[in-house]
Amino acid sequence: MRRKQRKLQLPEKLRWNHNEWYRRWLLRQLPSRVESALDVGCGLGDLARSLKADRVTAIDASARMIERASATSDRITWIHGNVLTHDLGRYDLVTAEASLHHLPLREGLTRLAELTKPGGTLIIIGLYLTATPADMAMELVTLPANAVVGLAKAINGTGGKPHDTEMPMVMTAPTLPEIRAAAAEIVPGARIRRHLFWRYSLVWRAPEVH
Ligand SMILES: C[S@@+](CC[C@H](N)C(=O)[O-])C[C@H]1O[C@@H](n2cnc3c(N)ncnc32)[C@H](O)[C@@H]1O
Repeated sequence: MRRKQRKLQLPEKLRWNHNEWYRRWLLRQLPSRVESALDVGCGLGDLARSLKADRVTAIDASARMIERASATSDRITWIHGNVLTHDLGRYDLVTAEASLHHLPLREGLTRLAELTKPGGTLIIIGLYLTATPADMAMELVTLPANAVVGLAKAINGTGGKPHDTEMPMVMTAPTLPEIRAAAAEIVPGARIRRHLFWRYSLVWRAPEVH
């Protein structure tokens, strides 16, 4: 089900990029040796450029994102296309940073799993809708922490725009229970963690045969 996420917004000067914050965490989850990697919904390609792999492919449905991303690196194979329908291979590593909520949850997760080679790794940093009592309790910590980090970043000059103005955004997301239920069926054994700033992570090692 897709409902709107309503968040208390900080003043413009104190806003910052939560995806970037979790990118460092994501990069620490990478297997030590990766031959082929695919970044799904790559946007401007910041994550794709940070992936350590022999071959990196990045796909985005926005022609403008791919046009801008491809101007930044020719080490990466940039694809303008819909991940659900584009003819792609299978990869040792598949990443999706803030892009799964752009897709229908079960179809998107199934597709990401299919794109992951047997024995490969799928890593998702995703957005979830604040809906449950546990989510609300988390907000009591998240909201002040968000303001403190925003203030610290504004003071040391590392803040700035939470996202690029040309980046496609959607204001809906599944809830964490919906994500856990879909994952239990589609990527059983995946490790799902709730993170502080409205994000969750999902790490799945694909079985050797799937
Ligand atoms: C919020 S942005 C995140 C971009 C980037 N991963 C980041 O973290 O900065 C989501 C991206 O997913 C892309 N996207 C949405 N639906 C897609 C689809 N079906 N196939 C490929 N990319 C898609 C959008 O065009 C957008 O660039």
